[in-house]
This record gives sequence, C-alpha cells and structure tokens, in this order.
Amino acid sequence: MGCPVAQAAAPRAPAPELFTWEFAADPYPAYAWLRAHAPVHRTALPSGVEAWLVTRYPDARQALADVRLSKNPVHHSEAAHGKGKVGIPGERSANLMTHLLNIDPPDHTRLRRLVSKAFTPRRVAAFAPRVQELTDTLIAGFAERGEADLIHEFAFPLPIYAICDLLGVPREDQDDFRDWAGMMIRHGGGPRGGVARSVKKMRGYLAELIHRKRETLGDTPAPDEDLISGLIRASDHGEHLTENEVAAMAFILLFAGFETTVNLIGNGTYALLRNPAQRELLQKSIEAGDAELLATGVEELLRYDGPVELATWRFATCDLTLGGQRIAEGDPVLVVLAAADRDPARFAEPDVLDLTRRDNPHLGYGHGIHYCLGAPLARLEGQTALATLLTRLPDIRLAAEPDDLRWRGGLIMRGLRSLPVEFTPTR
Ligand code: HEM
Repeated sequence: MGCPVAQAAAPRAPAPELFTWEFAADPYPAYAWLRAHAPVHRTALPSGVEAWLVTRYPDARQALADVRLSKNPVHHSEAAHGKGKVGIPGERSANLMTHLLNIDPPDHTRLRRLVSKAFTPRRVAAFAPRVQELTDTLIAGFAERGEADLIHEFAFPLPIYAICDLLGVPREDQDDFRDWAGMMIRHGGGPRGGVARSVKKMRGYLAELIHRKRETLGDTPAPDEDLISGLIRASDHGEHLTENEVAAMAFILLFAGFETTVNLIGNGTYALLRNPAQRELLQKSIEAGDAELLATGVEELLRYDGPVELATWRFATCDLTLGGQRIAEGDPVLVVLAAADRDPARFAEPDVLDLTRRDNPHLGYGHGIHYCLGAPLARLEGQTALATLLTRLPDIRLAAEPDDLRWRGGLIMRGLRSLPVEFTPTR
C-alpha cells in the first residue's frame, strides 16, 4: 500500500512580516492575515523577546480581563534570568515599578481606588477651559503662517502641557518636561540610553516636587488644588499613598497620557483629512453646535486608527488556552487592540471610517480592571483639539503625499512622526 495522498492545502498568502517600516505605515493587512490564519500567534519582537499576539476581538477582550494573565513582569519566564526586556526603559533603575500598569489585585485595587479619588471626572471637567486655552494658544502660534507640522506644533505640546498643568508642575519647568517627553517619543523604539536618562531626570524632578508639596500642604484642600496634592491627600480607610507611590503614579499619568494623546490628535486629524466626506459631516455638525457627532466621532477615530496598537504586557501565571492555542506559564501575551478593533466578526465594515457609528465597543482604552484611567481627559483633549482645529482652520489640508509620511512604530504605540498641513492664513 502506498502512502496516503496528502490533502491539497487551500492556498493561502504567506505570513506577513511584522514590525518593518511598511508594517508601521499600514499594519492592517497583516492584522487581517493574523486574525484569519493565526489569531493567537507566537512571534519574536524587535527586542528579541518572544510573545503571543492576540488579534481577534473576542480573544482580545477575554485576555484583557483574564485574571490568569498578570501585569507583573516578575511572572515573565525570562525575568528570572535577567533577560526580560519588557516595560518602560529606565523605570527599573528610577524605582518607578509600582504603578498601575505593572501590578495585579489586591495592590492594583488599592492603588487605583486611591488614585481615582484624586483623578476624578469632576477634576477633568473643571479643567476644560484650560485645555481650550492651551489649544487656542498653540493654534495661534502657527495660524498666520498658512502651514504647520501638526505633530510638532500641536499634537505633541498640547498633552504634555495639559498633564503638567493638571499635576501642578510650575509653568516655568514645563519645557523641561517637554524635552524629556520629546526624547521618549523620538527614541521610544530605539536607543534606550537617552530614554532611560530622561526617565531618571523626570523621576528626580517629581520626587523633589512631591516632597516640596507635601511639606507645604494645608489641612483643607483649595478648590483648584493640583493633582499631585490630591494624590498626597487621597486616603482610603486611613491609608495614604507613600511618596514613592505618588511619584510612580505621577510618572505613569505622564507616560500613559502623553504619547497616547499625541497619537489620538495626530492619527485622528490624518484620518479626517483622508476622508473628506466624513470630515465635512463633522465640520457641519460642529458649526451647528451639535456635540454628538464629535463624541461618537472621536470614539470611531480611536477604533479606526487608535493610538495604542498593542495593550501593555501580560504574562501567563499558569498554563492556559486562549483562542484554541496553548500558552505556557511565564509566556508574555500582547493584545493587539488595533487588530481586534478591525475584526469583521464584531464591527460592520471595519475598514470604513464612520463617525456616526454607534455600536462601537472598541478596545482602544483597554477593557477590564486596567481600563484607561485617563479616558475622560483623553476625550476632552481629543474633542477640543479636533473641533478647534476644524473651526479655526476650516480649509486645512494635507501638505504631503500619504506615502511620504513616516510613522513611529514603537511596540505599544503607533503614530505619525510629522503631519505637514496647509490652510488659508488667519489671525
Ligand atoms: C491604561 C489607552 C490617555 C492614564 C490604558 C490602557 C489603554 C489606554 C489601552 C490599558 C492598557 C492595558 O490594559 O494594558 C489610552 C488612550 C489614550 C489614553 C488610547 C488617549 C487617547 C490617557 C491619559 C491618561 C491615561 C490622558 C492620564 C493622564 C492611564 C492609566 C492607565 C491607562 C493610569 C492604567 C490604568 C490601570 O492599570 O488601572 N490607557 N490612554 N491614559 N491609562 Fe490610558
């Protein structure tokens, strides 16, 4: 008897190359392939670390809320050998590890409850006039020129000044933060030395600022008290954050709230400029004073081309099965939010930008206990930035060919390096 004849396998496109320049410019075809052929896929990351990529919406949602997946890097199988290259460069040496994105319950529950007492939706709402003022000032800085690089002159400075103001970093020191943050954003996926130095400087500055504020804190909070003072003051059943925990918290608010918002404004504006009918719809509704489309629109921009491509690290604390794939204890798992948010099994016409989309439970802000704490601030900044830009510069258009634009493809975030635009000069 001869060998059984092998069934002819259905022809399929070859596996795409991940983490190249082409991938950074448009990762969506690669994500479509992964969703279809290898929805839980083991791959070597640019750092050399091996990790599982989760790309289908239901698996992604499940993984984000799965208690067997820890956020603590001590569970990484390579951590014991000192080989693990995960996390934020410099955070270990700057003693900033105890923040929300690195810990599990019960520590996470305790810290998140304390932070939520200070970083409230009410505090964010009260901050709206300042965000508008910052937005107006930045636009006034280039409006008369008729051209600008929207990343450099607008999307980048707005979030850093906003978070510094909210935390209570004095205005005269905010340009230092701008430079340190600039180093982090420019070299996020590149040399770690400069980034680690910037993290250390930020850490040193924050430690001193927190110490000074703690020394001078009165008994009763002033109505316009800053967030660092709020964090120092926050208490839960008589428990307070330690000075080190306040520093780690302030740092993670800066880190988590900065590049994400730069990319929301950058990717969002770019998507609008490339979809004229949608942009016109939004412009008309803003002119009519209707805030509803702006709200659903910013959520859709997050789904369509979100700032956070991959959620931050998770590590299997036991052997487990996800999406039919066995994952071993100690393995890192990365949930690809950008892929899940284009899953045709969950979203109708996922590759179409539809600002009116209502059935839109996107994962751009994550899901579960680590759901973005800064979402109200991000929404405020995103909505204010886009609405003001379209109102003040109504004929704003791209001043470069899309193929000439360069994308920053760090592991976690994805955004444009620059966004040249032109418009009729205005005062
Ligand atoms: C967590 C996205 C803006 C603070 C997260 C997570 C995502 C996310 C996906 C979950 C990560 C995970 O589960 O691994 C975004 C996006 C933003 C944004 C897309 C902008 C458009 C902000 C801002 C702040 C902030 C402005 C604060 C100033 C945080 C914090 C966490 C977090 C503290 C950790 C929460 C926890 O672990 O309990 N964010 N974020 N984010 N975000 Fe944001």
